Amino acid sequence: MKNAPSQDTLCAQALGWVEPRTKALVQPVHLATTFERDPDNEYSSGYSYIRNENPSWDQAEQLLTRLEGGAGSLLFASGMAAATSPFLALKPGDHVVAPEVMYWGLRKWLTGIGRDWGLAADFVDMTDLAQVRSAIRPGTTRIVWAETPSNPMWQIFDLTGLAEIAHAAGARLAVDSTAATPVLTQPIALGADLVMHAATKYLNGHSDVLAGTLTTTRDDEYWRRIQAVRTSGGAVLGSFEAWLLLRGMRTLPLRVRQASANALFLAERLERHPRIAAVLYPGLPSHPQHAIAKRQMQGGFGGMLSIQVKGGAAAAIACAAKVKLWKRATSLGGVESLIEHRASIEGVGSPVPGDLLRLSTGIEDKDELLADLDQALGA
Ligand SMILES: Cc1ncc(COP(=O)(O)O)c(C=O)c1O
Repeated sequence: MKNAPSQDTLCAQALGWVEPRTKALVQPVHLATTFERDPDNEYSSGYSYIRNENPSWDQAEQLLTRLEGGAGSLLFASGMAAATSPFLALKPGDHVVAPEVMYWGLRKWLTGIGRDWGLAADFVDMTDLAQVRSAIRPGTTRIVWAETPSNPMWQIFDLTGLAEIAHAAGARLAVDSTAATPVLTQPIALGADLVMHAATKYLNGHSDVLAGTLTTTRDDEYWRRIQAVRTSGGAVLGSFEAWLLLRGMRTLPLRVRQASANALFLAERLERHPRIAAVLYPGLPSHPQHAIAKRQMQGGFGGMLSIQVKGGAAAAIACAAKVKLWKRATSLGGVESLIEHRASIEGVGSPVPGDLLRLSTGIEDKDELLADLDQALGA
């Protein structure tokens, strides 16, 4: 058996863990905030206080490390807590390069709190590696931050090319892989140093947990500093949330494959729709980075796509108003399909066109999803 066990088996069995005392196949939720110290003043259990270590995190962290092919993972209280920690582990004056098209919440943090804190950030068109190369400040650039597919235009960034540029400058490549999931893309195998997920989305998959993760390629001083940012800042995941996250991860490959198949079906049909000006989906041959997507994504192109509705923002908002099956809601990666007028969320300064609706395709019946969009578009 090559590369055994597969992601399907690792997830379904949550690494095959059996609780030693009761032989339970599902781990208990550990609610204790504090753990007994040994008479010799040591903590031989490895647990002391719940902000430092929590047995309820262990299985999800270890499973994610296996899925990503990394050396270690950390759970955080949210995707934003995970995303900001690698920056907070730098020093004021350090520089980072990030994409123009990325999750708007992190762009806002980098240009607001991050900048006030002393971080310098340049935003480039990351589909053009020459722009990334020229944004690098030798000796000062510490992180090249990528997000692929990138929210909400679903651009694809060439991770191998980005890793080469970052490493040549002595910087790290960190990747927000939320939309790709470890099922479709493994950034570490392509050269990334850090992988981040808003686990609120596909990893959990049921729209009922706020969580974030980081996975590293090496357990070095920088990784320990990130760990210290989590421990001392306290942006840790609650025990019950960690338990729910692991439960969601057990079905990750199934959910991701179904959402990807549904999204590809919708993208192909909607691309021919008379009321739609453009469909943004990396699985379409018309997507400008389709060739890179085919190379660095396996088994599908994800559940996220966007459509641009003819008639501008008003027509897009009117379409979203008429859906019956799709839910008008923000977020993504749950089993239920969501539709959102993205410019209304991102506000002033966003590069997102006004006619764009972001679709998070769930695992429902694909024909029913298409029929609902069709009636909402007023075909
Ligand atoms: C791609 C991406 N990264 C990061 C985040 C932030 O995650 P959270 O909302 O869990 O803090 C989100 C949330 O929408 C996201 O979509």
